[in-house]
Amino acid sequence: MRPPRGRAALAALAVVLAVAAGCLADARGWAFAQDNAKLKEMYRRPDTIPFPADNPYSDAKAKLGEMLFFDPRMSGDKNISCATCHTPSLAWSDPLKVSIGAGNQPMSKRSQTLLNLAWTELLMWDGRFPSLEDQVLGPLFKSDIMGNSKTGMVEEINAIPAYRGLFEQAFPGGAVSVEAVAKALATYERTIVSNKAPFDRWIENDENALDAAAKRGFALFNGKANCAACHNTWRFTDDGFHDIGLADQDPGRGKQVPDVPVLMHAFKTPTLRNVAQRPPYMHDGTIDGLEAVVRHYAQGFVTRPSLSPEMKKLDLTARDIQDLVAFMRSLTSDDDPVTIPVLPAKEAM
Ligand code: HEC
Ligand code: HEC
Repeated sequence: MRPPRGRAALAALAVVLAVAAGCLADARGWAFAQDNAKLKEMYRRPDTIPFPADNPYSDAKAKLGEMLFFDPRMSGDKNISCATCHTPSLAWSDPLKVSIGAGNQPMSKRSQTLLNLAWTELLMWDGRFPSLEDQVLGPLFKSDIMGNSKTGMVEEINAIPAYRGLFEQAFPGGAVSVEAVAKALATYERTIVSNKAPFDRWIENDENALDAAAKRGFALFNGKANCAACHNTWRFTDDGFHDIGLADQDPGRGKQVPDVPVLMHAFKTPTLRNVAQRPPYMHDGTIDGLEAVVRHYAQGFVTRPSLSPEMKKLDLTARDIQDLVAFMRSLTSDDDPVTIPVLPAKEAM
C-alpha cells in the first residue's frame, strides 16, 4: 500500500483498519477526531516565556518592573500608574470605552489587555511600536496619559532610596535611567501570562473541562463562523491588522502604512484569552458584550473597500451565537488575585 496522503487517504486507511479489526468504525467520525486532534495541537500553550537577548530575564528586573508598574509616582501628577488603565482584575485592561489619562483627558482608544505580550511583535491598536521596551516610553511621557518628563521621572525615583538599591540589583553598576526603567517594565510585562483556562484542560484531553455548548462553539469558531481565520494559535490572534467593518472613521494601521489600502481602518487582532473579563470591546469600546460581538460578525459590519476579505455575512442560529459565546467564556483562566507590591517610601528607611 502507498503511504496515505491527506485527510481522505487517512480516512480510507481508517476504514481498512476498522474493518480489519472487525469493529464498526465510522470513517467520517474518525477523520473528524483526527482534525480535532490537529486543531488541539495548534492551540496548545507553550511551556516557557521568550525573552529577548538584549533584555534577558532576571528576578531583580521583574521585581523592579512590577513595582514601577503599580507606582503612581511614575506619572507627572503622581496619580496614575500603568495599572490605572491595565488593571489585573479586569484582564489587565480597564472598563471604559476609551481610557482617561492625565488631567482627566480621554484618550482616542480603548485600553488593550497586557496578557501574553511576550509573544507579540507589533504593539498598540495600530502597531506603531516594535517592542515592549519602546512602547513603555509612550505612556510615561505623553501629556494625555501619564504626563511625566524624563528628568522628572529619574529625579523622583532617585529620591526613593529603596528604588536606588533595586536598580543597582537589577542593573549592576548602572544608574537610574529611562532605558533601565523601560527594560524593567518590559521584563515584568513579559511575565503577565494568562493561566490555564478550562479550554486548556480540554486541550490536554480532559473531556469534562468543556460543556457541549463550548465544544460546539469551538467547532463553529474554526468552521462556519471563520473566527480562526484571524484569531488563531493558543493566544487566539494572528498578530495581524484587519478592518472588521466597525463604523468609526479612525484610520488605524492605515495611518502608519498609508500605501496599503487594505490597512485602512485595520486594527490589531486582540487575543481572546480572558476576553469575558474585559468588556466593552473593540478599539473604540463600542460593543458592550460578547453576544453583540458575534452579531457584529454575523450581519452588523459596514462594507467598504478596506474590509477584510475574511468578513462575510454569517448565517448563525441563536444557538450558534450562544455556543460561540460559551466557547469564548471557556478561555477565562482562574488565576489567583494579583498581589499589589508594597511600594518603597520616599524617606530613608
Ligand atoms: C491612561 C491610561 C493608560 C495608562 C496610564 C497606560 N496605558 Fe497602556 N494603553 C492604554 C491604551 C488606551 C492603549 C491602546 C492605545 C492605542 O493603541 O493607541 C494602551 C496600550 C498599551 C500596550 C500595547 C498592548 C498591545 O497589545 O499592543 C502596552 C504594552 C501598554 N499599553 C503598556 C503600558 C505600560 C507599561 C504603562 C505604564 C508605563 C501603560 N501602558 C500606561 C492606556 C493606558
Ligand atoms: C478578519 C479577521 C477577523 C475575523 C474573521 C474575526 N475577527 Fe474578531 N477581531 C479582529 C480584529 C482586527 C479585532 C479588533 C477590531 C477593532 O477593534 O477595530 C477583533 C475583535 C474581536 C473581539 C473583541 C476583543 C477585544 O479585546 O476588544 C472579539 C470578542 C472577537 N473579535 C471575536 C471574534 C469572533 C467570535 C469571530 C468569529 C465570529 C471573529 N472575532 C472573527 C479580527 C477578526
